[in-house]
Amino acid sequence: MNFVSEPKASYGAGLRESTVFRSDAGALLQKLPENLFRCCITSPPYWGLRDYGIDGQIGAEEEPAAYVRRLVEVFEGVRRVLTDDGTLWLNIGDSYTSGNRAYRAPDRKNPVRAMTYRAPTPEGLKPKDLIGIPWRLAMALQEAGWFLRSDIIWEKPNCMPESVKDRPTRAHEYLFLLTKSVKYYYNHINIQEPSGRNRRTVWSIPTEPFPGAHFATFPPKLVEPCVLAGSKPGDWVLDPFFGSGTVGVVCEEQRRNYVGIELNPEYVEIALQRIRNVQPPMFTNDKEAAG
Ligand SMILES: C[S@@+](CC[C@H](N)C(=O)[O-])C[C@H]1O[C@@H](n2cnc3c(N)ncnc32)[C@H](O)[C@@H]1O
Repeated sequence: MNFVSEPKASYGAGLRESTVFRSDAGALLQKLPENLFRCCITSPPYWGLRDYGIDGQIGAEEEPAAYVRRLVEVFEGVRRVLTDDGTLWLNIGDSYTSGNRAYRAPDRKNPVRAMTYRAPTPEGLKPKDLIGIPWRLAMALQEAGWFLRSDIIWEKPNCMPESVKDRPTRAHEYLFLLTKSVKYYYNHINIQEPSGRNRRTVWSIPTEPFPGAHFATFPPKLVEPCVLAGSKPGDWVLDPFFGSGTVGVVCEEQRRNYVGIELNPEYVEIALQRIRNVQPPMFTNDKEAAG
């Protein structure tokens, strides 16, 4: 694995090994060769939840529409670098309007959920409205030409308790499967249920906060089926919002090449440390190549 803090003008001839770039996702994607990645697995910063305190960050836009536009633009760059049979696995959570409360004190018990920042209630929405960000983004991507193939519910059996008494406690996020073309690489055998049934759309996976990461990290168990269904050993996998590098960890374990892009140098450091500690296993969890 290689780390690049000053990206070159272009990587037209390709990359020799898995690489983590410290960069803005949109800018770096333009430097990568087209048709390189068999799949992209990513979790963009959620809207209005967190100020990562760094210029160029996504998620601090005033309005959900501006946030969605910005992400659609980044995913245009992703589409260019995906193979024609490539898939995009997009994890995204929802949030509520703040009711015009400007600030919510950090939550000491659960720093990941603490909000350092809250956007004002966007136009057209009311206080306490669920914003519906995942579906706003999914529809916008569909309109931009992506095939929306599945919504997968990531159910969190260990979700954080909420003090609300006027709605159920939120215990899920979305994972959308989007594709560049009508036909695409999808190894259904690799992710069959233990009974041999085709994988269902509700995945129950506990959250696993990563020490030192002050944002929501993917659990490796959520990333693994995406890697196994969306790529073969040796393929290239992309995560343009790399955070603590969970996609890199799973790719090391499943012998995929990968590119991670992360804007924040602190998180890059966490990711590099974490990846260096991975002991590559003798065998991957691949069962059989798809036809
Ligand atoms: C929800 S976190 C990703 C967590 C990751 N899936 C993990 O398992 O650790 C989103 C990440 O996107 C990064 N980010 C925000 N704006 C960015 C940009 N313009 N380009 C690249 N990364 C960005 C944030 O610093 C944050 O680490």
